[in-house]
Amino acid sequence: MTLYDVPAPAKLNLFLHVVGRRADGYHLLQTVFRFIDLCDTLHFDVRADGVISRATELPGVPEEQDLTLRAAHALQRATGTKQGVQIGLEKRIPQGGGLGGGSSDAASVLIALNRLWGTGLSRRELMELALPLGADVPVFVFGQSAFAQGVGEDLTAVTLPERAYLVAQPDASVPTPRIFSAPDLTRDSSYITIAVFLASPTSRFGRNDLEPVVYRLYPEVLGASRWLAEQGILRGAPVRMSGSGACLFAEFSELSEAVLAEAEISAIMRGADKIFSQTHPRFRLVQACTGLA
Ligand code: C5P
Repeated sequence: MTLYDVPAPAKLNLFLHVVGRRADGYHLLQTVFRFIDLCDTLHFDVRADGVISRATELPGVPEEQDLTLRAAHALQRATGTKQGVQIGLEKRIPQGGGLGGGSSDAASVLIALNRLWGTGLSRRELMELALPLGADVPVFVFGQSAFAQGVGEDLTAVTLPERAYLVAQPDASVPTPRIFSAPDLTRDSSYITIAVFLASPTSRFGRNDLEPVVYRLYPEVLGASRWLAEQGILRGAPVRMSGSGACLFAEFSELSEAVLAEAEISAIMRGADKIFSQTHPRFRLVQACTGLA
């Protein structure tokens, strides 16, 4: 029995424009995925008997919906391997927060098991297995920050400047389909070329078209966004939502600035908890992170 540990990083959408809708209801997007060093860790225990199982229960995620198991089954089916695996998962990326945690876990399963099982699929083939698992899974198999088009599968690598991020998760769970199906979602943003983004490759570029819908349906996310902007802690960095939320982020030039902002917010929240518990929004996570290549 050999155990392997593999990280699965979270992503931020630096901007997200909805540029159309396909006949099957999926939306055509233009976005930039940036990976950050907030990671889940997966443990793999390869087994010879072909059984695929999980070592850890994911609260609220039954086995048949668990993307790590679905990814392992997809690779096993595609390659006909007789091997199995037990998958352990240490969750740090918030679930349903727009940070792609489940998608990243699934991609890490595909990449790791392809090695451990010796099934020899190319990265391209793994990306094809990834897409039916979710629109955000291919970019994590791609493995680097990317400009994405289509539903998220048409990927071009981009080199991004070194930046740090403060990520904050308001106390709200946002189901992605509810946001994409909202009647007031803007679906006709103009197409841009990568060159336009690369002229200003930061979170100040463009917008997240899902934000107004989330802010309308989840006032606690709007409240958290406003509160973050008003504290003077972000030093003018705009607050943006990642994916379909609820996570919000602000970009900084230096990690030390993001760490300071994290400490200041945590201190305000601790102090306010003791004195007047209703004066600040609830966050489930406030964390400084480094942007990855
Ligand atoms: O692909 P994934 O399972 O992550 O998508 C969740 C839901 O989000 C889809 O069922 C769809 O309603 C919506 N979606 C979309 N267009 C995308 C990605 C997701 O409409 N490009």
